[in-house]
Amino acid sequence: MSVLVLGSSGLVGRELVRTLHTSGHRVVACDVAPPIEPTDPEVPFVRADITRLDQLVDLMRTHEVSEIACLSYVMGPLMSPDFSDFLMATQINVTGVTNVLEAARLSGVRRLLLASTVGTYGPQELYGDRPVTEDDLLAPRSMYGRMKALNEAIADRYAAVHGLEVVKVRPSSILGPGSTIWPSRLIERLAVGETGLAPYGPDARDNIIAVQDLTHLLTELLTRPTLGHDTYLACGHNVSMAELVKILGELLPDGVIEYPADPRRAPSYAQVFDNSRAVAEIDWKLRPAREAVRLHIDGVRREAGLEPIAW
Ligand SMILES: NC(=O)c1ccc[n+]([C@@H]2O[C@H](COP(=O)([O-])OP(=O)(O)OC[C@H]3O[C@@H](n4cnc5c(N)ncnc54)[C@H](O)[C@@H]3O)[C@@H](O)[C@H]2O)c1
Repeated sequence: MSVLVLGSSGLVGRELVRTLHTSGHRVVACDVAPPIEPTDPEVPFVRADITRLDQLVDLMRTHEVSEIACLSYVMGPLMSPDFSDFLMATQINVTGVTNVLEAARLSGVRRLLLASTVGTYGPQELYGDRPVTEDDLLAPRSMYGRMKALNEAIADRYAAVHGLEVVKVRPSSILGPGSTIWPSRLIERLAVGETGLAPYGPDARDNIIAVQDLTHLLTELLTRPTLGHDTYLACGHNVSMAELVKILGELLPDGVIEYPADPRRAPSYAQVFDNSRAVAEIDWKLRPAREAVRLHIDGVRREAGLEPIAW
């Protein structure tokens, strides 16, 4: 029996394959794009496209897949205001993810972990001045958040109608080399000596999590015999942009950071989250925010052939 990681060439997938493998689990890596770094020879890599149900069923049966992490998605490009290929995004994000659920059902998979997002929530004002929990209403404003909310709704129907065990995980902004969203424009640019671009104004808050902490949680949620819930917020530290910029200034004192022209710019989704469900059930230990940022910087610098930072 093996754990299938779909989206294994991406930021989370690469780290999840490593974490599962080093924790002693049999893993199959799969992506439509080839791995960007050499993979462990003990971990098979299969090139497949989630828009192809036949490829997914074949893969799951051949490798006797018992658990799946469904990470494959069009995310970063979809968040750009210039993005226009809505047909392709829908084919992957809606039909493709539903193919994964269908193939899992047809292949008798034990558990499917669906990577959702905190972008499925509405703006913070909707919930008041308190951290948002798993039980709060979803009210996404972005097309990305709406697609993820639809994925969750379809997954719930697969669970109810077909008895497939689905675990929905809602991560916040993930720090790690290869991010396709705002941490790349802020942290990755700074790490190699370019001007860092803060996504939001200094008072706006977002939640950050190190990819290593996230994949530790995902590994537990994939492989534990039973789970207490079907939905988990996978969030780390609630920080304001000013707090994050201060951490970056301490780690990279020569770095230059620009805020957006409109200082009121803030995420379209809630800004403060409660991660106590995962922390209590999994005994999840998170590294401090400063350590998460440093790991991201050093990961980017290693890939660029630069020395780690002194700290
Ligand atoms: N990065 C974040 O901050 C963040 C935050 C919340 C949720 N998420 C979610 O977590 C998951 C992983 O995020 P990530 O940052 O690793 O994303 P990523 O963009 O780095 O990786 C996604 C992977 O999906 C693959 N993919 C795209 N189309 C495919 C297809 N047709 N068939 C097979 N694979 C395909 C891509 O090649 C890529 O390797 C995504 O579902 C994302 O929406 C990410």
